[in-house]
Amino acid sequence: MKRPVAAVIGTGRGVPASVMTNHDFAAIGIETSHEWIHERSGIVERRIAKNGETTCSMAAEAARKAMDRAGVHAGELDTIILSTATADRLLPSTAVDLQAELGADRAAAFDIGAACSGWLYGMTVAEGLISSGVAETILVVGSEKMSAIVDWKDRATCVLFGDGSGAAIVKRSKSGKGILSAFMRSDGKLAELLYRPAGGATIPFSDQVLAERSQFVKMAGREVFKHAVREMSEASDRALDSARLTGEDIDLMIPHQANVRIIEATAKHSNMSMDKVYVNVDRFGNTSSASIPIAIDEAIERGLIRDGSTVLLAAFGAGFTWASMIIRF
Ligand code: ACO
Repeated sequence: MKRPVAAVIGTGRGVPASVMTNHDFAAIGIETSHEWIHERSGIVERRIAKNGETTCSMAAEAARKAMDRAGVHAGELDTIILSTATADRLLPSTAVDLQAELGADRAAAFDIGAACSGWLYGMTVAEGLISSGVAETILVVGSEKMSAIVDWKDRATCVLFGDGSGAAIVKRSKSGKGILSAFMRSDGKLAELLYRPAGGATIPFSDQVLAERSQFVKMAGREVFKHAVREMSEASDRALDSARLTGEDIDLMIPHQANVRIIEATAKHSNMSMDKVYVNVDRFGNTSSASIPIAIDEAIERGLIRDGSTVLLAAFGAGFTWASMIIRF
């Protein structure tokens, strides 16, 4: 096993206070039921950004908590990597807004777009920057205001997502703890199974786009489901192999929180019993790239990740993109 070069020294989360339950969809005219949503996805409720909460403001809350726990102040950050599918504006990046908000004057700041896999992509880039000597102290945030890009008239998608942010401070490892292995992969041929057709440079906003609601997320649910199980399983295998570990060496698995059935199928593939798998999709829905760092932060708070714990992370998202990582805390 390689000696880790990058360690997680603090985590935090920032989720909106406003809770929307499955029962609340009736009040906005969505024909659905708690039973349908819960049986298909495991989701009971999700958080929804309100009162001016943005991708940046949620990220700032998560980042401040992570910096506090790491004992790192904003001036020490030399890089800020923010993964998001819901940038507050298209130019410049949300990462630079976060930099200004935090007062991280020394940092280089940029966004990563890899949908639900984005935070693991960001963590992998962070490890590389530390390994090459370009950076020492990096903030990696996943922040998503999914409520701004789902179609609130499409019951097949709007019930699945939620808003929130999770963050980690990554620093050069001195202790033998940190990232043990990482894996990333994409397949752009499958982009149109989960995408926003319009609103970018090719099909800019127009009256027609707004009338067709083609600026919102479109998803082929069954196809996504199939690929998510297959690719997250592959990603888990790859991370275990390259760290020369097996499922038995893992103290906790945290898969991307999209759907409890996807999580169960992925855990089964990796021979992980569900009592070693962290699940909070019931309380947050799918928060895209924020889901893994939110879950890590909760698991630390609950004592499920302790000093020396070995944790397997796996994600899958639009692109398609998929990724995995093993971290020793
Ligand atoms: N409430 C009630 N009925 C609904 C709803 C709803 N919210 N949404 C769809 N239906 C109906 C459909 O109209 C359809 O009715 P019909 O048979 O009369 O046409 C019926 O339910 C079945 O629809 P399906 O789409 O076939 O349902 P399925 O069993 O495949 O479940 C689901 C749908 C939950 C989306 C599932 O395919 C899934 O979980 N896919 C994975 C998608 C995912 O997790 N994406 C997250 C983003 S990607 C990522 O993060 C990994």
